[in-house]
Amino acid sequence: MSVIRIQGLQRLHGEISIQGSKNGVLPVMAAALLHSGIVVIKNVPVIQDVFCMMDILESLGCRCCLEGHTLILDTRGLCCWQVPEEEGRRMRSSVMLLGPLLGRLHQVSTCYPGGCSIGRRPIDLHLSALEQMGAKICGDEERVEAFAGKLCGTDIRLCFPSVGATENILMAAVAAEGITRIYGAAMEPEIEVLCRFLETLGAKIDGIGTGFLQVHGGRTLHDGEFVVPGDRIVAGTYLGAVMAAGGDVCLLGAPADHMGETLDAARKAGCVIEWKENRLCAKMDGRPRPVSLSTGPYPEFSTDLQSVMLAVSCVASGESKIQENVFEERFATAGELIRLGAEIRIERGTAFVRGKYPLRGNCVQAFDLRGGAALVVAALAAEGESQIHDCFYICRGYEDICRDLTAAGARLSFKGDEIGYEENTV
Ligand code: UD1
Repeated sequence: MSVIRIQGLQRLHGEISIQGSKNGVLPVMAAALLHSGIVVIKNVPVIQDVFCMMDILESLGCRCCLEGHTLILDTRGLCCWQVPEEEGRRMRSSVMLLGPLLGRLHQVSTCYPGGCSIGRRPIDLHLSALEQMGAKICGDEERVEAFAGKLCGTDIRLCFPSVGATENILMAAVAAEGITRIYGAAMEPEIEVLCRFLETLGAKIDGIGTGFLQVHGGRTLHDGEFVVPGDRIVAGTYLGAVMAAGGDVCLLGAPADHMGETLDAARKAGCVIEWKENRLCAKMDGRPRPVSLSTGPYPEFSTDLQSVMLAVSCVASGESKIQENVFEERFATAGELIRLGAEIRIERGTAFVRGKYPLRGNCVQAFDLRGGAALVVAALAAEGESQIHDCFYICRGYEDICRDLTAAGARLSFKGDEIGYEENTV
């Protein structure tokens, strides 16, 4: 059992340090396999998904040593190309190993990836791109197997800017012979993070930060050291917490440059935001104004923050409209928000929310990572105590949401025996 207990209606005030990016570090860890040597990654978030990826890399023959937030990877012993079933299913990012294992060992076998239950998550774009680069794909309903005596650079056009597919293509392309051009690449900041890391190891990539990437493959890689930037989704979650609970909070290490749509949405809802260097300060008085947004590939509003904004809209001073265009089941959390007293109606991928304040404390259940965090945000604006069950989902991506929000004066505590956390007091 893992539960977060929250006493709501406490204004927030203080500073929160933003952890390193989950969606940044996981592909970086996978990409380290392209090189045989030592890679040092700094500002690594200490989260369950990172532990899971470390377990996978170790089972493949690598050595991983996490000291504080610094991860030292020794990839010289990589010898196995079979991603273990249990860890592979536990985490969506196991799919990231397709490109690097094909590149370095010329073969890979992995199960279809797990992760949050936020809707269908096919990998057809990944597989088709790898096939275009010369890989032979086989397997069955359970596992994907791929072989490539030699990967060859080619022109790849993505019909949708899939983040994961772009990352897999980039990694395979670094190992491939010749030039790979990706048209319609995803432009999420995490793609730039991966490109910068690959450059650190000696790769050459043009067009970083745009939808057209050109990789000069086959270069010899070398050891490297890399710093993971702050997590824009975690920063956006805590911005949502300030909006729901009210108060003023500074987020240290928030990557404000890459949070444009989130900051715009927060400002429209009445949050006053200022940022200088890596210090982003947010002030919220009164209830948020109603929200109108629609999710999409970057630079559109992030689907990962949709649940958090849904929670914020539950206490807005009017009717909000939130449209989900990326993952069809991201509204699973709406039912739990309703248990906290929210008024939400879902129609064909759009949530219509009539805000009311305060919500009322209740026992609710997390179904996925970001939805779980959204329940924490909503509970901050609920009268009395709320309990969020199955919050191990939240630990997949947040180092310690209780520690962070407690630093800003919120009253919440975590109890979770199976993942080694100790209870702290409300
Ligand atoms: C990544 C992020 C996730 C984020 C998402 C969109 C990580 C670990 N996860 O997920 O947090 O919400 O980007 O910003 O970085 N699709 C296909 N075929 C494919 C691949 C994707 O149809 O082969 C579809 C998906 O079903 C989904 C959409 O494309 O509807 C977006 O998926 P994608 O961008 O690939 O997201 P992920 O890489 O899985």
